[in-house]
Amino acid sequence: MKIMCDSINKNNIGEKVTLYGWVNKKRDLGGLIFIDLRDRSGIIQLVVDPDSSEYEIASTLKNEFVIKVEGLVRKRQSVNDKLKTGEIEILVDKLDILNKSDDLPFDLNNVTALEDTRLKYRYLDLRRSELQNNLMIKHKIMKASREYLDSLEFVELETPILCKSTPEGARDYLVPSRVNKNSFYALPQSPQIFKQLLMMSGFERYYQIARCFRDEDLRADRQPEFTQIDMEMSFVNQDDVIGVTEGLLAKVFKDVKGIDIKLPIERMTYDNAIDLYGSDKPDLRFEMKIHDISSIFKNSDFKLFTDIINNNGIVNCIVVRGEADNFSRKAIDKLTDFVKIYGAKALAFLKYNGDFSGSVAKFVDDSIGNKLVKDLKLSDNDLIFIIAGDKKMVKTSLGALRCKLAKDLNIISDEYKLLWITDFPMFEYSEEEDRYIACHHPFTMPANVDDLDDKENAKAIAYDIVLNGYELGGGSIRIHDMEVQDKVLKSLGLTKEEANDKFGFLLKALTLGAPPHGGLAIGLERFTMILSGTENIRDVIAFPKTTSASDLMTDAPGEVDIKQLDELNIKLKD
Ligand code: AMO
Repeated sequence: MKIMCDSINKNNIGEKVTLYGWVNKKRDLGGLIFIDLRDRSGIIQLVVDPDSSEYEIASTLKNEFVIKVEGLVRKRQSVNDKLKTGEIEILVDKLDILNKSDDLPFDLNNVTALEDTRLKYRYLDLRRSELQNNLMIKHKIMKASREYLDSLEFVELETPILCKSTPEGARDYLVPSRVNKNSFYALPQSPQIFKQLLMMSGFERYYQIARCFRDEDLRADRQPEFTQIDMEMSFVNQDDVIGVTEGLLAKVFKDVKGIDIKLPIERMTYDNAIDLYGSDKPDLRFEMKIHDISSIFKNSDFKLFTDIINNNGIVNCIVVRGEADNFSRKAIDKLTDFVKIYGAKALAFLKYNGDFSGSVAKFVDDSIGNKLVKDLKLSDNDLIFIIAGDKKMVKTSLGALRCKLAKDLNIISDEYKLLWITDFPMFEYSEEEDRYIACHHPFTMPANVDDLDDKENAKAIAYDIVLNGYELGGGSIRIHDMEVQDKVLKSLGLTKEEANDKFGFLLKALTLGAPPHGGLAIGLERFTMILSGTENIRDVIAFPKTTSASDLMTDAPGEVDIKQLDELNIKLKD
């Protein structure tokens, strides 16, 4: 095996070494030729003397040629402290070109190419240290997770990729079966049902670094295929699952970043998270909480607000401390456009400087003003943004505005903020389907079976782990009792026949000795993104898809031969 470039240092001075790698850069200084040799580990400087027999061949080198060199390690005249190998260089005795390279479609040392070009030549882009480092971080997260779970006697088990369609919420990717005409497999959205069945098989502690597939609208933190660090355990309660996950997170942070995270991780209920941050994945790296000022405006002269309050709506605000002077009317108009995306009709504002100015200042009398100063702990130059309307819209808009302002004002601290969100709702209303669906999945244990009829308020024993405003992972305690499962499926509007058709095998297993169990899955790409400091999920996947779910390198998805379709008994519409 070759040795890595970065393993050579000043202790090797005077030794002969053989190295392999790519020409990262060549500088021909008229006399000496300097070559930056690159391998996975980093860069080392090679020097070819004009008197050397290898000089001629060295002068033909171009970027990305693959070479082998033998030479003497010597002290470098001017140290390059940006390089791990910056104190030494290799005086080349022998140089072999193992392969040449045509001119590259883009310069690896100065990437200005569009992402599409970089995705088309992904194997070239992956030569860059930035992407290599991200994938190394991913590798280290997987390694630490495996070591940790292994130490707790978890068993790594595989589950099928060709499955039956399961109710996870997103759209399935379907695979037609050739042998069973007119039948389809679905790719797993997660191993959820299989890992529950493994508990029923008696494995007690399962994990898998599991590939998952979801045909959903893609965003900066979503890909159609992604990976979960997936766990399930028997005879546990919520605190047990949280404890195991916290241990795993602590080990990953320590091994990958050298950081000791503070345990136990803070917990917040879903309802509090929505009330205070307008999100079930609040970013706690900055304050700017949402305040309910409905009671302050309830008896005001501002009819617009009082009408909203009297119709079950709310008036909420966030305070931007010490920034009133820095927000022009134009800047506030732009923020108004921003909150409109979330359904807000308007964005009211108040500037405080001993007294109030701003779009709703004329409705702020002494009594309201004093209450605002006291409740919001106002100081001079504070700026208040107010949104009124129905609760969901108000919280979501202010939650999004809070995040945007923090980013724009650059007040997000440079730290990792973990948070558990607990007590999730059991159901959520789906506009698309015009019915209540399971908020997590239909196998999640309700907090109280008697509450199931109260769809708006029923809670589940479900929890998410949030990191820096991202939903890093989620899980729940599962139903292991057939009677409870029956009730939940009924509340979801599923008939016995439908339920049996979809996952009768699981329902049967519940009647044949199913242990209490629960688990959680962490999104590996999201974890890697945060630990690598990127906001683009493609930066942590070797061969990612674009936002339109295509692979620009292989051109997938692509058309297939009519013969293949015939075998599958499929006829295309157009
Ligand atoms: P859930 O659907 O919450 O739970 O997924 C768990 C975690 O997986 C990550 N994730 C994604 N990452 C990238 N691209 C996507 N399209 C994507 N979708 C989800 C997120 C998320 O928190 N079976 C349950 C887990 C359980 O109950 O044990 C499940 O899949 O980080």
